[in-house]
Amino acid sequence: MSTPQVPKSLKTQNVETVVCLQCGVNMRFNPSPGTELEIGAYRYQISQHPASKMEAAYAQEAGKATVYQVRQLSESSPLFALKVFKKDFRGAYVIASAERIRRYQHLPGMFGCERIILTRELCSKLLRQYPELEYSVLMPWLGTESWFDVISKKESLTFWEGLRLATHLSKCLHKLEHEGVAHCDISGGNVLIDRYQLKIELIDLEDLFGPNIPSPTGYPMGTLGYQHRSSPKNIFGQWLLEGDRFSAAVLLAEMLTWHDEKSENQLTENIILTHVKCTRIVVVIKNCVVHSPQFLQNSQSF
Ligand SMILES: Nc1ncnc2c1ncn2[C@@H]1O[C@H](COP(=O)(O)OP(=O)(O)O)[C@@H](O)[C@H]1O
Ligand SMILES: [Mg+2]
Repeated sequence: MSTPQVPKSLKTQNVETVVCLQCGVNMRFNPSPGTELEIGAYRYQISQHPASKMEAAYAQEAGKATVYQVRQLSESSPLFALKVFKKDFRGAYVIASAERIRRYQHLPGMFGCERIILTRELCSKLLRQYPELEYSVLMPWLGTESWFDVISKKESLTFWEGLRLATHLSKCLHKLEHEGVAHCDISGGNVLIDRYQLKIELIDLEDLFGPNIPSPTGYPMGTLGYQHRSSPKNIFGQWLLEGDRFSAAVLLAEMLTWHDEKSENQLTENIILTHVKCTRIVVVIKNCVVHSPQFLQNSQSF
């Protein structure tokens, strides 16, 4: 295929089509398992979807982007996630945001802040071939199961597991808020869980609120089911320091109550320990809702 001088972008029924002006070949990024991508000094390969009998790329489409699993072609071959934004969410803002949030990557649950942005300086050849990859985010692969998956597939969880996950989530959000940072779109799909270590990782980190983090192109309004009813009425939506309080309270309550009550009897020996932890978490949840001044303005009937 010849290299295009100016890619032409057409939008047909929400499907973005990029056509090479010289040869007319569709250049839309639609990779197969094994497709190779050269990013900086490394090559990466698109993974095959584990559930597909047919050859299909390991991809997850969501509101702002499609996220692919890629493997680095190096000795240790680590896994990464490549987040390819839809057209309206691409822009230099992604670069500025990534630079500012990098410093939070060592906080619990914030490993996704370690990210590389695909720019023309870094991978000009790749972006000439697939212009829509510009501003994509390459970050560590953080797991395969979200809290949304647990709920939607009605997966079983013991009380103890729910408590450990909730404890880790509240610890993560507490540390974030201590740094003056909020995630601003806490929801089941944006929290990945590790069933073995009983830990969580936050994803969807482009719209964080925090010191020197530029304002996003569109303010995060929250996700249905986790969004406070006053959020759509605020100009900034949930983009404020207390922006996680309500959504996190809902998510923590889900984690603490999802367990199968039949299995509770097995937990008698842990009951005193869990009671102490549970009391602490209930206090956290109460604080989440009660000390959220912005939301309280509109929440008389909440
Ligand atoms: N770093 C990651 N590791 C593993 N899976 C991820 C990662 N980032 C995103 N995903 C997957 O892709 C989905 C969409 O990602 P997300 O960042 O929430 O996109 P959007 O901004 O469109 O909501 C997530 O629900 C998750 O399944
Ligand atoms: Mg998301």
